[in-house]
Amino acid sequence: LKVLSDSATEIRVELGTRSYAVLVGDDLLGSLMSFMPEKGWRKAAVLTDSNVGPLYAAGVVETLRAHDLETVLLEVPPGEGSKTFEQAFEVIGGLMESGFTRSDVMFALGGGVVGDLAGFAASVFKRGIDLVAIPTTLMAQVDSSIGGKTAVNLPAAKNQVGTFHQPVAVLCDILTLATLSLREFRSGLAEVAKYSLITSRDWGGELRADPRAVAEATPETLARVAAECVREKAALVSADERDTGVRHYLNYGHTLGHALEAAGGYDGTYSHGEGVSVGMVYAALVSEATGLGRKGLAESHSAMLVQMGLPVAPLAPAPGFEDIEPRMARDKKSDGGFVMVLLQEEGRPAVVRDLDPSLLRSCYDALLAGDFRK
Ligand SMILES: NC(=O)c1ccc[n+]([C@@H]2O[C@H](COP(=O)([O-])OP(=O)(O)OC[C@H]3O[C@@H](n4cnc5c(N)ncnc54)[C@H](O)[C@@H]3O)[C@@H](O)[C@H]2O)c1
Ligand SMILES: [Zn+2]
Repeated sequence: LKVLSDSATEIRVELGTRSYAVLVGDDLLGSLMSFMPEKGWRKAAVLTDSNVGPLYAAGVVETLRAHDLETVLLEVPPGEGSKTFEQAFEVIGGLMESGFTRSDVMFALGGGVVGDLAGFAASVFKRGIDLVAIPTTLMAQVDSSIGGKTAVNLPAAKNQVGTFHQPVAVLCDILTLATLSLREFRSGLAEVAKYSLITSRDWGGELRADPRAVAEATPETLARVAAECVREKAALVSADERDTGVRHYLNYGHTLGHALEAAGGYDGTYSHGEGVSVGMVYAALVSEATGLGRKGLAESHSAMLVQMGLPVAPLAPAPGFEDIEPRMARDKKSDGGFVMVLLQEEGRPAVVRDLDPSLLRSCYDALLAGDFRK
């Protein structure tokens, strides 16, 4: 990797020969190629969605072409509905048509949906081509672009088909967040809140104490917080690439979160982060109910998330527990008995197995009733 601009922070994801850099900073898109490893690519595909494409694709395509890469632009419709097998096959068809080989590259320019889809297509096309991530949502910058998980959904549950395929570089250009809607920005804040809840590091405590500082962030604050989140994720991924141990912690709030998304048919009723936000309050209730978590955990979760403008209870009409339970059970992290990430207290996560279904039900009832509020 070459020169860094003054305003860029580089965080390494250490994975032996598959290690890579995540760059967080201002205006990285303009000097995109200076951050690329020497790979001898001849062709590049830029996969984006029809919201992000008109905003940022022309500049990226132009830069790649200026560096003698034969570049094609592929665009999918925005939203979770694009994370399907069918869409992945269309993308792969586009690569075939343009004569891509194994020594070419795919750029994922967009949010987590584009990232997961591009990653999946790149990992299976010719058994795997290089992937560069250019995440443009807060969600994707702090979470989904790092760590190599790719996925498409099945109607029954989220992320049921996927691969591990690490990118060769990740560029988080904070300036792209300027065009994000408030709702999508807040969706990313839910993952920021998640990191602050599972980490015992100082920044997590600071953020819990003053959530508004991030909710109303300047680009400088945002770059600093995003870099902290990337550090957390990079450390967990380096320690447990295949998600058999500590990487599970990143799933905090996701068991119910994913179930709410799936119950809504991925129709956008819940953004991913909104589901996670509600799911974290639920996980805190379960933590308390099992006796593992400190009293008042759900209440303080709720206070923080509300300050970030996030939902803390399922939207009406809320799905019944009968609908939610099998979806939670199918969540990819459950192996056999019911598994969830819980908290003893802020900064002390634990993976808990064989949770009692009747306890899960009563906590869901408590969530619907808003029992955690003061
Ligand atoms: N692979 C992982 O480890 C991982 C981790 C977390 C989340 N995810 C996945 O990520 C997905 C959610 O990602 P997301 O929240 O980024 O959703 P998204 O990709 O759907 O993006 C949200 C919306 O913002 C628009 N958008 C993106 N960038 C923009 C910009 N700069 N300006 C204006 N509009 C912009 C998109 O077009 C879309 O409408 C989910 O599918 C989730 O499962 C994956
Ligand atoms: Zn998530």
